[in-house]
Amino acid sequence: MKQVDFLVIGSGIAGLSFALKARNYGNVCLITKDTVQETSTRYAQGGIAAVMYDPDTYDKHIQDTMIAGCELSDPEIVRITITESTERVKDLVQWGVDFDKTTSGRYDLAKEGGHSEFRVLHHKDETGLEIQQKLYMQAKKDPQIEILENYFAVELITQHHLGVIVTKHSTDIACYGAYVYNPHIQKIEAIAAKSVIVATGGIGNVYANTTNPIISTGDGIAMVHRAKGLIRGMEFVQFHPTALYHPATRPAFLITEALRGAGAILKDLRGNEFMQKYDKRGSLATRDVVARAIDSEMKISGEDHVYLDARGLDKFIFFSHFPNIYSKCLSIGIDAAKDMIPVVPAAHFSCGGIYVDKWGATTIKNLYALGECASTGLHGANRLASNSLLESLVFSHRACEHAAQRIKSVTFQEGIPLWDAEGTVSNEEMVLITQSVKELQSIMSNYVGIVRSDLRLQRAFDRLNIIHRETETLYQRSVVTKPICELRNMVGTAYLIIREAIKRKESLGLHYSIDYPPKNN
Ligand code: FAD
Ligand code: SIN
Repeated sequence: MKQVDFLVIGSGIAGLSFALKARNYGNVCLITKDTVQETSTRYAQGGIAAVMYDPDTYDKHIQDTMIAGCELSDPEIVRITITESTERVKDLVQWGVDFDKTTSGRYDLAKEGGHSEFRVLHHKDETGLEIQQKLYMQAKKDPQIEILENYFAVELITQHHLGVIVTKHSTDIACYGAYVYNPHIQKIEAIAAKSVIVATGGIGNVYANTTNPIISTGDGIAMVHRAKGLIRGMEFVQFHPTALYHPATRPAFLITEALRGAGAILKDLRGNEFMQKYDKRGSLATRDVVARAIDSEMKISGEDHVYLDARGLDKFIFFSHFPNIYSKCLSIGIDAAKDMIPVVPAAHFSCGGIYVDKWGATTIKNLYALGECASTGLHGANRLASNSLLESLVFSHRACEHAAQRIKSVTFQEGIPLWDAEGTVSNEEMVLITQSVKELQSIMSNYVGIVRSDLRLQRAFDRLNIIHRETETLYQRSVVTKPICELRNMVGTAYLIIREAIKRKESLGLHYSIDYPPKNN
């Protein structure tokens, strides 16, 4: 059986930045279910928020984060994240990440919704790609880091696999590694590890329209839930207000909020501004507010999109800062310098996830969760734009410090059994999986989207139950494959979103229910 000090599941900013630090304390095996580059990180456009210069201050960034999170964010976690932001940006620069600068040599900082200052470092409109590539370049030349592509983590190994009964009330659950699908032998093997790091990213694919790549299926969250780790805040799913309206494209192409920061304005189908009706911050209100306003405008007009008008932007700024957006629009016949861009909200980010403490440690011993799959408490009821890449970096650093302290006292668990595939057969009918995925996405989009109600949530719960039962039966009898595991994880994730949404008897941030009008209205 393979044994490693650190088993990292995920190759986005969270997994790679952890690996690049942990390599100083032991050997690292990093697995990814696709190619290394296919991550949400790779698609990030706007950038990374950090306090760099006057007149910005840590206190202002802290205040903006707390306001966006509807005061539900954990104040200690917010302070830690923001006050460590400047140092973590230096790590990125040291790994070779190139952020845009002005002619005076200072970082060219952008502004996004909910930010009171210009503080978003970026690399044109492809910040994520720049980060992904530079971190990967560092990791792949490092002999201490083994990278395994197309390896799929199926389950975390705990006492449960050694025959001990584990419930959500157990206080001593420990993680000993993971069962992982090895594509070369087409079998599931166990990898034993002293520390396991879940960095599996987001959940966007439980919805019909999402900005997330196909890898974002909530695998880590569902795995930790099955292992009886604590999950929280799943009702707070962030819809990005402005994905390009082009129904044939999945994932939906993002039109960065930084374009609104640079002056682009939301308009209805008749070309009239509408955001002032909803919020005095206009097109730069926080995302929850803007997404709901667009949803409302679409319901009023009966149309499937609104417009983003970027025609008034300085041409130099447009072409030099947003070249990727300009050429994507042009590729589908929209000249964004002359035409308005059709946009629609799309599922974008999970504010909730696997509960972790201020060291990135989950409620399961030896198990850490980092990046979008984790719930540190930073985002509260709504994430401030560009705080997510930052959160990944800050908590990867902290988790590494914590794990490095403990690694010498942890030993490999003995007696981990082989994966038991007895009695399973190959599933010959993909339609049993693909149809369930479509049904799940339709239930989530129609009943558990931007605007919810008790009735819609109950309907979603009841219908999901049917898919859950069918999926479990199929999973039990099938040889394990990536599609069946992803469906199972998406069902698990959807269940957690609905469960938390039903429990929350109020409208707050990203969770908006017509049955509980917001208190301040
Ligand atoms: P990811 O980068 O998604 O990586 C997840 C990794 O886990 C992948 O390697 C995947 O293959 C692997 N994985 C998943 N399941 C398994 C499994 N079962 N087995 C093995 N491997 C698995 N945030 C910002 O702060 N600023 C922005 O400008 C910004 N723009 C964005 C634009 C877009 C279009 C999107 C989608 C998101 C954006 N975000 C932005 C959010 C941010 O990009 C993500 O939250 C962040 O990149 C998540 O990083 P991560 O490392 O947690 O996960
Ligand atoms: C964007 O560029 O609008 C996305 C930023 C984010 O999701 O933080």
